[in-house]
Order: sequence, then structure tokens, then C-alpha cells
Amino acid sequence: MPSFYALVIGASSTIAKAAIHQFEDDSNCLGVFAVSRYFPVPTQNTKTTYLACNNTESSISEVCQILAPVSGKITKVLICNGLLHDDNITPEKRLEDISASQLEAVFHANSIVPMLWLSHLLPLLQGKNNTQVALFSARVGSISDNKMGGWYSYRASKAALNMLIQTSAVEYARRAKNVKLIAFHPGTTDTPLSKPFQQSVPKDKLFSAAFVATQLLSIMENIPMDNEAAYLDWNNQTIEW
Ligand SMILES: NC(=O)c1ccc[n+]([C@@H]2O[C@H](COP(=O)([O-])OP(=O)(O)OC[C@H]3O[C@@H](n4cnc5c(N)ncnc54)[C@H](OP(=O)(O)O)[C@@H]3O)[C@@H](O)[C@H]2O)c1
Repeated sequence: MPSFYALVIGASSTIAKAAIHQFEDDSNCLGVFAVSRYFPVPTQNTKTTYLACNNTESSISEVCQILAPVSGKITKVLICNGLLHDDNITPEKRLEDISASQLEAVFHANSIVPMLWLSHLLPLLQGKNNTQVALFSARVGSISDNKMGGWYSYRASKAALNMLIQTSAVEYARRAKNVKLIAFHPGTTDTPLSKPFQQSVPKDKLFSAAFVATQLLSIMENIPMDNEAAYLDWNNQTIEW
């Protein structure tokens, strides 16, 4: 594999941290840029540069200016941002649970932030080197797979993310033919995001972040570069949009 730089956005994510460790251990990886709203305590590993960003357009633009010297050399990008619950947000079970503020907050984190990054990253990713961008979606974002209902804002924001990825892929195919966009479903993974919902998950279906990161990096390494968006799960199986 040729040498490369990795960019991990939403670097406080448990899965993101596992991927960063794997990039740090990869001798072909020249450096990792880890972007987060929070400036994590840097590890001893000098390969990783931590960049604070609150995901406003101006803040994203500032990060992209810092990355400009490695333009065309970042060939692995993970956009991990996602919000399911917090102190004020619980996934909606019924129509009476719908609120504008929850819909807005969840769409902002799950659809708008990743799309702002896809927009700003285009000039940094254009070039000759095969480049994969994995955006963390979820199976519940599949419109054709929705048998259960519920989780209105999370589901719809991931479905919107999927459409934004599909639409971006059409334009990236013209303007950055070297880039493959992947909507990635990690499976239920043991992280703070899934914690409140793990009781009903069988032990062998609850993945470690390290396992999921290994699966994702292998998928990115081997995926065909066909200028179409892919919607894949942790096992490299296609999910219907
Ligand atoms: N864990 C699962 O079972 C599971 C299943 C399906 C899909 N996913 C998806 O996988 C991705 C990674 O999740 P995880 O399980 O690793 O979760 P996690 O450890 O809770 O990480 C949360 C991630 O979301 C970002 N984030 C949270 N609130 C945000 C906000 N208001 N605005 C912008 N970014 C925000 C964080 O970015 P900062 O670094 O900036 O804080 C971080 O990247 C998410 O997109 C999630 O939807 C997870």
C-alpha cells in the first residue's frame, strides 16, 4: 500500500479512537489528523495531530487551511459524527414525542455537519491518489429497511445523510474521480451512543470499537473505485438505500 495521511473527523467517537490507533500502528500511514469539538489529551504518539473544530463553516474552513499542505495526500477519511441521545434528547417512540428542537439538533449533527465537511474537503481530496471517505451512517437510515418505525429524528437524519452522500457522489465523480464515498453502518458497537439500548442486543452482536475499526479499514482498502456511493455494513454487505 502506498504511504498516506488519514483524517478522522469527530475524533472523540469511540470507533474513531480505535481507528486512530490502527492508523498510528500502520507503517504506511505518515500522519493522522484528528478533528474534534473537544481537544482530547494527546497520546504519546507523535503521528497524530489534534485539531479543535466546532463544525461551523468558518471553523471547518480554518481546519482545511491547516490541511492544505497535505492536499492530495490524505487518502483515508472517516467522518464519524452522530447524535442519538444526550441529556435533552431521547429517540422518539411515538408521534407525540416529536419536537422541532430535537429534530433540528439531530439533523444538525447527523446530516448537516458531515455534509459541510464533504463540501469543504473537495479541493483537499482532488488528485491522482485513490481516496476513500467513510461517513458513519446507520442501517436505520435505510428507507426500504424501515419495518420498526420510531427513532424519527435519528432515522430521518441518517436517511438524509445517505441522500447527501449519493448526491455528492454524482458531483465527486465529475470533480474528484479518485474519491469513493461510503455510507458505513458499524453494527451495534459498544460506545456511549448505543449504551442505553444494549440490553436487547445478544452478546455476539455487540461489537468492540477495535473490531469495527479493523473491518472498516479493510473495507476501505479493498473497495472498488467506481465513482458510485456505497452503503455498506461492518461485514462489507450492501444495504438497500
Ligand atoms: N455505536 C453504534 O452502535 C452505532 C450504530 C450505528 C451507527 N453508529 C454511528 O457511528 C458513528 C460513531 O458513533 P460512536 O458509536 O463512536 O459514538 P460516540 O462514541 O458517542 O461518538 C459520538 C460522535 O458524534 C460526534 N458528535 C456528537 N454530538 C455531536 C454534535 N452535536 N455535533 C457534531 N458532532 C457530534 C462526536 O464528535 P466530536 O469528536 O466532535 O465530539 C463523535 O464523533 C455515529 O455517526 C453513529 O451514529 C453507531
